[in-house]
Amino acid sequence: MSHRIRLIPSGREFTAEAQESVLEAALRNGVNLPYNCSGGSCGACKARLLSGQIGTHRFHDYVFTESEKAQGHVLLCSISAGSDMTLAVDEIGTTHQIPHQQVPTRVARIERLGEHYVNLTLRTPRSQTLQFLAGQHVELRIGKELSCDAAVASCPCNGMFLQFHLALRLDEPFTQHVFERLRVNEPVEVAGPFGDFVLDESSQRPLVMVAQDTGFAPLKSLLEHAIALELMQPLTLVWVSAYDDGFYMSNLCRSWVDALDDFTYQPLHLEPGGEVVTAEVIASGVNGPAQCDFYLAGTATLNEGLRNALRKFGAVEERIFIMEKRQCGMR
Ligand code: FES
Repeated sequence: MSHRIRLIPSGREFTAEAQESVLEAALRNGVNLPYNCSGGSCGACKARLLSGQIGTHRFHDYVFTESEKAQGHVLLCSISAGSDMTLAVDEIGTTHQIPHQQVPTRVARIERLGEHYVNLTLRTPRSQTLQFLAGQHVELRIGKELSCDAAVASCPCNGMFLQFHLALRLDEPFTQHVFERLRVNEPVEVAGPFGDFVLDESSQRPLVMVAQDTGFAPLKSLLEHAIALELMQPLTLVWVSAYDDGFYMSNLCRSWVDALDDFTYQPLHLEPGGEVVTAEVIASGVNGPAQCDFYLAGTATLNEGLRNALRKFGAVEERIFIMEKRQCGMR
C-alpha cells in the first residue's frame, strides 16, 4: 500500500510505502530533507502535519513542546504514512544547510574492480548516517596518520552505506593502505561533507556529464540522484580514461542505457597528454551546447580544456559546473 506525500512550500510530491518511514521514502525519492539521527532523538526531521493520517508511530526520545504538539509537529523518521499526507517542511536547498559531521564507520566491503581500482563501501551506525548532497566529497581518515579526500560515489538515498572509488597510486599512502592492508570491519572515520558540485534540480536543460577515471564517482552519485528524482531531460555521460581498465563500471553505465529513456553513454580513450584534443572532440560532439548544463569531473587539465572548448562551441559559462578539488586515488 503506498500513499502520496506532498510537501509545502515546495509542492514536491513523492510516494511512501506503508512499511517505511516518511523520511526513508523522501530520501529514496531523491528529496533532500533535514535529518540527523534517523532514530527519533535529535528533532532535525521535524515537520508539521497539515493533512492526512499517520500509519505507524514509532516511539521517540525527542520531546515536543506544548506549542509544537498543538501545531501538529511530527518526526518524519518516526512515522509512516497511513493515507495521502501534506506536510509543511523546508527542503535542503544549499550545501550550507548541511552541518559538518564526523561519522565513525566500518568497512562493509572492498570490491576490486580490475587491477587498479577498488569500490570501497563504508557502513555508518544506523543512528548516525551521513547527510550529504549528491556530488559532494568527504575526508576519509584511518587512524591518526592516513587521510584522503574522496567523492561519495553513492547517492544520498542511502546515507548508511557510502561508496568510494579509489585508484591505486603508489605516491598516496592512503590508497596503498586500502589496497594492501585494509580489511572488512575495520574503522574509517568520515568527516564532511564538502563542496558545491551538486545538481541544479531547478534546471530542465539537457545534462552532459564528463568524468575522467575516478571522476566517475561524483557523477555516479549525481546520476543516481537524478534517476531517483525521475528527471525527464536527456542525459549524456562521457567517460574518459587513458587506461584500459579505467572504465571500471562500464556495465553499470550500459544498464542505464537499457533502463532509461534518454540516456547516452560514451567511453572515450584518452591519449597520454591528449586532454586538450579530447576536450575539443567532446565539445564538438555535444548537441546544442548553449541549451545544456555541464558537470565536469576530470583532472584540472581536462576540466579547463573542456571549459574553453565548450565556451567556444556556445555553452553558457554559468551552466558549466566543475568538480574543482582533486580527489585522492585519481590516476
Ligand atoms: S532524524 Fe533525528 S529525530 Fe528524526
